[in-house]
Amino acid sequence: MNESLTHNVTEAFVHCADARTKEIVTALVRHLHAFAREVNLTNDEWRRGIEFLTATGKKCDGIRQEFILLSDTLGLSIVLDDINQHHDEAATESSLLGPFYRDGVKESAFGANIAQSEGEPVFFHGAVRDVSGKPVAGALIEVWQTAPNGMYEGQDPEQPEGNLRGRFRTNADGEYAFHSIKPTSYPIPTDGPVGKMLVATGRHPMRPAHIHFRIEAPDHEPLTTALYSSDDPYVNSDAVFGVKPSLIIEYVPKESGYDVARDFTLIAKERA
Ligand code: BEZ
Ligand code: FE
Repeated sequence: MNESLTHNVTEAFVHCADARTKEIVTALVRHLHAFAREVNLTNDEWRRGIEFLTATGKKCDGIRQEFILLSDTLGLSIVLDDINQHHDEAATESSLLGPFYRDGVKESAFGANIAQSEGEPVFFHGAVRDVSGKPVAGALIEVWQTAPNGMYEGQDPEQPEGNLRGRFRTNADGEYAFHSIKPTSYPIPTDGPVGKMLVATGRHPMRPAHIHFRIEAPDHEPLTTALYSSDDPYVNSDAVFGVKPSLIIEYVPKESGYDVARDFTLIAKERA
């Protein structure tokens, strides 16, 4: 094995003026070479890899981003989340944004119902606080989830505009409340190379039922997270590895439907 090959290649970047670019590209070369050597990659396997990446690129357009789906299913996205999220145990943990977030949803009143689909009713409520326990008033809370058919509005022309998407402001006590329906587990898009990769490797494409939250408040770090249903059969085998134990919630049965009480804790931005 000729170890000097790797050295020769990393040396080719010696004049790279940007220190961070140099660090990233030389580390990439070292890891790529180590990977090929570890698995004794054959020429045929290399070609199939190139074909797979080419097909992944061809599947991308203004809406579909197959490379992000590849990053999600290889766990790279959640590693990035881990690298870049706070590690303050008092604050709510983050989770993946996913491809179905939509900006520009109309703001709804405290306690509004975001569901225009039939389903099992759920009352979601709680408060947004900072790590000292102080309520965060006026925080923007955006939520989105699938309908019982496992599709987000936007994927499904049968669903009314804005279905199961909400935008709320916390009140003076930091509280939020809205009505919705119980989310459903659903498959990530499987009609592309990533779907083929999952089949070829004996993996399922399902995400456990969840509701996404994005919370923003002045002087606080924004939070992108999701709450996962404890009773979902895929809660321990999420296709994109987004589930964290602290984000698993119980849907508590009540007279009609369920109640979910859940607080969120934000981190104050560091002052410059
Ligand atoms: C989602 O939860 O919406 C999602 C996340 C990653 C990949 C596909 C879907
Ligand atoms: Fe989702």
